[in-house]
Amino acid sequence: MSFATTIIRWHAKYGRTGLPWQNKRDPYAIWVSEIMLQQTQVSTVKERYQLFMKRFPTVKSLANAQIDEVMALWSGLGYYSRARNLHRCAQTIMTEFSGEFPRNIDQLESLPGIGRSTAGAIAAFAYQAHTPILDANVKRVLSRFFGIAGDLQNQKTTKELWLKAQELLPKSAEKMPVYTQALMDFGATWCTPKQAKCMAEPSAQCPMMKSCFAYQSNRVYEIPAKKKKSASPSFQTQMFLVECGEFVLLERRPPKAIWGGLYSLLELPWEQLDVAPVKITLRNAPKLIKQTVLGEQQISINDGQIISVTACNPIDHIFSHRRLRIYPHILQLKKKWSLTPGNVMWVKKSHLGQIGLPQPIRLFLESSSR
Ligand code: ADE
Repeated sequence: MSFATTIIRWHAKYGRTGLPWQNKRDPYAIWVSEIMLQQTQVSTVKERYQLFMKRFPTVKSLANAQIDEVMALWSGLGYYSRARNLHRCAQTIMTEFSGEFPRNIDQLESLPGIGRSTAGAIAAFAYQAHTPILDANVKRVLSRFFGIAGDLQNQKTTKELWLKAQELLPKSAEKMPVYTQALMDFGATWCTPKQAKCMAEPSAQCPMMKSCFAYQSNRVYEIPAKKKKSASPSFQTQMFLVECGEFVLLERRPPKAIWGGLYSLLELPWEQLDVAPVKITLRNAPKLIKQTVLGEQQISINDGQIISVTACNPIDHIFSHRRLRIYPHILQLKKKWSLTPGNVMWVKKSHLGQIGLPQPIRLFLESSSR
């Protein structure tokens, strides 16, 4: 039996069903789900996808939206460049492709945020095209099955895997959607990095066992080759939750920065974790506010007196490549500082739900207003 038939049969029995993005032919709906699923777990995407699609049911509605609203709906999903690219991509589709998703794989791949594998998935699901996918899960499945033990960072290894991925496709175009989904589900649920079914539960009888190079040679956990992990650099920063009655002061982060485009607290420049942070007092707070990332030009501090400074428990946040310890401080004001329009704004606490905030900042704001 061919690889494709084997995995399609496996999927009929063990594949994931009942997910809101499945069995769709609309390339827009498929594209949104693929972007969300790139770095976010299925269980999280399940709820958030439906909210997103309800607010932006078409590529036109997304293209016409304000970026702030897109960011707000993405809040908590992480990897925010995905949301900015989604918005940009929708606008490109409106202006350069008359609002229609391109069918051509190269054109799909030329769009912001769409790589070769995502383009392959969209074309396979929406148009039954013979286009392979090769995300991290599929790389693991194929490298185990064929015994491709080279470093996955290496271009030669990746090229070999793409060739295999292309050769394995089912002949019938109609089978492309179910085959593509089967491969994704198999990689995500059975052929996993540390609990591969064949090793963890051999009685489940993985249908690939007989032909799988890694299983047959007892190298399932050695293939693919492990990435050498470098320690993530650690930083610290102090942040200010400036409060005046019902209002809090937020600043929009620069588009290219971490949490780019989201609103956050005023923040001092990051420093190495090993230095003791400056203690913040009523006396030095005004000077430090002037040193926050964006605050300096836009805030008139002389307008309102600071009544109190409260240091709160630090928050540890892990990004994909770095760690950050945040020391938050609550500053109470007598009167709101006046602002020149730009990247800072006063937001009513009751409106925070509509603002795109980084997840740890949202949690902090929620806990501090309780
Ligand atoms: N990961 C990426 N795309 C997916 C999909 N369509 N279903 C499940 N997991 C995925």
